[in-house]
Amino acid sequence: MGFTADRLLLFGATGDLSQRMLLPSLCALHADDLLAPELKIVGTARSELSTSEFRNFAREALEKHLPAGRRGGVGTFLNRLSYEAVDATTQEGYDRLAKQVEGESEGLAIFLSTAPSLFEPTISGLSQAGLTGNRTRIGLEKPLGTDLASSQEINDAVAAEFSEDRIFRIDHYLGKETVQNLLALRFGNILFEPVWNSNYIDHVQITVAETVGLESRVAYYDDSGALRDMVQNHMLQLLALVAMEPPTSFDATAVRDEKVKVLRALRPVGSEDTVTGQYRAGAVGGAAVPGYDDELGKPSDTETFVAIKAHVDNWRWKGVPFYLRTGKRLPERVTEIVVQFRCIPHSIFAGRGAKTMPNRLVIGIQPEENIQFSLMAKVPGLDREGLRLRQVPLDVTMPHAFSDKIRRIAYERLLLDLIEGDQTLFVRRDEVEAQWEWIDAIRARWEESGEPPKTYTAGTWGPSAAIALAERDGVSWHDE
Ligand code: BG6
Repeated sequence: MGFTADRLLLFGATGDLSQRMLLPSLCALHADDLLAPELKIVGTARSELSTSEFRNFAREALEKHLPAGRRGGVGTFLNRLSYEAVDATTQEGYDRLAKQVEGESEGLAIFLSTAPSLFEPTISGLSQAGLTGNRTRIGLEKPLGTDLASSQEINDAVAAEFSEDRIFRIDHYLGKETVQNLLALRFGNILFEPVWNSNYIDHVQITVAETVGLESRVAYYDDSGALRDMVQNHMLQLLALVAMEPPTSFDATAVRDEKVKVLRALRPVGSEDTVTGQYRAGAVGGAAVPGYDDELGKPSDTETFVAIKAHVDNWRWKGVPFYLRTGKRLPERVTEIVVQFRCIPHSIFAGRGAKTMPNRLVIGIQPEENIQFSLMAKVPGLDREGLRLRQVPLDVTMPHAFSDKIRRIAYERLLLDLIEGDQTLFVRRDEVEAQWEWIDAIRARWEESGEPPKTYTAGTWGPSAAIALAERDGVSWHDE
């Protein structure tokens, strides 16, 4: 792990992510005494603000975004903050930053939450100011490029100044408690691993459904689309955690070695195995919402929904489809992984007229953090009219199981790991590049076919073709 940083430089400190997630997470860590007393946080952005103006800005963000019960430490947290205006493309700001840190710091953590087009000039500015030495590590917020080539360019620029063990690429899904719990479930129990393969698993579904539309990220989202915004990173990380072989230990190299093998084993997807969609006006949660074009103010071919049937070509997963779907303006916000087991090989109950259903494991990541395992059970009674079996859930709700524990924001964990130098929950260069390679091939096929996204009404589960994608294999999406 090396050193613990005593200075954190936050680039993009006045941006949306900083207000909603980064400052609140740091403040919560501070309030729980998880930050070393000597840690100072320097916010930087283009705006000319004084430290006291930045502290006021941070106070407002904290009041707005921290839950009421977690605002205890705001006053003392603000004392850790200072501010330095930095224009990414001129050297002076970086030199001023260097002066602030010079001689005082034992270790530096830098977090870039800026447009990726600023990564390269920022790294060069930091380098010229002498801020990229061995006791500096760097955190990078997504998106890391828009395709393999641009991501390699960013990775090369970062690698010119930082060794891989000092580069922390964020995928905030890895900071989510239930995502980490997936590993505990698989590798902390004897029960699942023996049946976690194509002999017993029929298929896997991964859904990341959102009710929100474009929000305030019009330009970014329209350039990106659902495939690059959600599948390239979060969904492929979830898939890798579900499909990976057991690592020898829970450490950064072992875990990431196993994930990258899965990502490299992803079979290229034909266009018949993907469906794209774009929402039209409709209603979500009882409120009318405009269509994507209306929100954007112009027609666009960007997909706000994508469904994919994927395969991992290795021994364990031979013939097991992984159905992925994600979209904006869907009926509910839900992230879940469904592992559908196969039917029993022979039913002893068939002669008594009772039907059995295959077992199913549902791992709820948000908003509910729960694990449900469906079992067949006998319906109580004397069975005069035949034996009846029914599916019942074994249900563990995480906040109940751990009611004495705080549910932390993903960035609390990730920022602390960045400060302390634990890379286990960060994405390695080979992973990002394997993810892009697979995504680029899908986009190339879309471009070849030239087919625009299908439409779906906001508040529905995407275009009907997405339902057909699963149904033609006899599969229904969970909870539809
Ligand atoms: C971000 C995407 O990475 O993840 C957003 O850019 C998306 O479009 C968000 O809304 C979803 O994150 P979460 O934690 O709310 O599921």
